[in-house]
Amino acid sequence: MTNNALNSYGTFITLEGGEGAGKTTQIARLKTRLEALGKKVVITREPGGSVGAEAIRTLLVEGDTHRWDALTEAMLLFAARRDHVEKLIAPALARGEWVISDRFFDSSYAYQGYGQGLELSKLDELRKLSIGELKPDVTFILDLPVDVGLKRAAVEQRYERMGTAFHEKLRQGFLTLAKAESGRIKVVDAGQAVEAVENAIFQHISSFI
Ligand SMILES: Nc1ncnc2c1ncn2[C@@H]1O[C@H](COP(=O)(O)OP(=O)(O)OP(=O)(O)O)[C@@H](O)[C@H]1O
Ligand SMILES: [Mg+2]
Repeated sequence: MTNNALNSYGTFITLEGGEGAGKTTQIARLKTRLEALGKKVVITREPGGSVGAEAIRTLLVEGDTHRWDALTEAMLLFAARRDHVEKLIAPALARGEWVISDRFFDSSYAYQGYGQGLELSKLDELRKLSIGELKPDVTFILDLPVDVGLKRAAVEQRYERMGTAFHEKLRQGFLTLAKAESGRIKVVDAGQAVEAVENAIFQHISSFI
């Protein structure tokens, strides 16, 4: 069952949050639990998730922190996202499958909007142009104090190097997004034990099964 007719018969779930919040860990666990119930599950990530989008990812996660201005960066991200939706997400949802993405457009609002200061209306325009009305059925924001997340994050690439003040803006940005769209977006305390986070996510997902 889905609350989003555009997703056809599938269910589209996204996990969001700062670096090291536990997104990758929780996606693997959610996949296992859904598969145990006989569901077909596709896991994917952004930036990336399709061949073209992974090529664009390299331009975003590597190199100097100031290599793009916020609008250019948002355009690259939405170009990658459009390819990801066309090649992977939309076909899987049309087949009735579950799609779980490690980040999606809420990250663009948090990073380029709240983090880098791009007007949110520009992101709305890019979103409509690139992917139309497609939205996740449910989005989990794994919320964690910035210092804890950055300590957990294994690799230090371009976004990780953007500094604590930037990551604090991200955290507050994600929480603001959740308040504005409380029907779709659920905030989960990612400071709990792995199993407790997993259970909180799965409990909410149960209504979609
Ligand atoms: N609830 C938790 N409590 C303690 N450690 C955790 C928890 N969840 C994940 N971790 C650990 O924190 C690290 C980061 O987790 P993970 O890679 O899942 O986060 P992520 O959000 O995907 O990070 P990134 O943004 O770097 O991709 C890993 O070493 C993981 O084992
Ligand atoms: Mg990860």
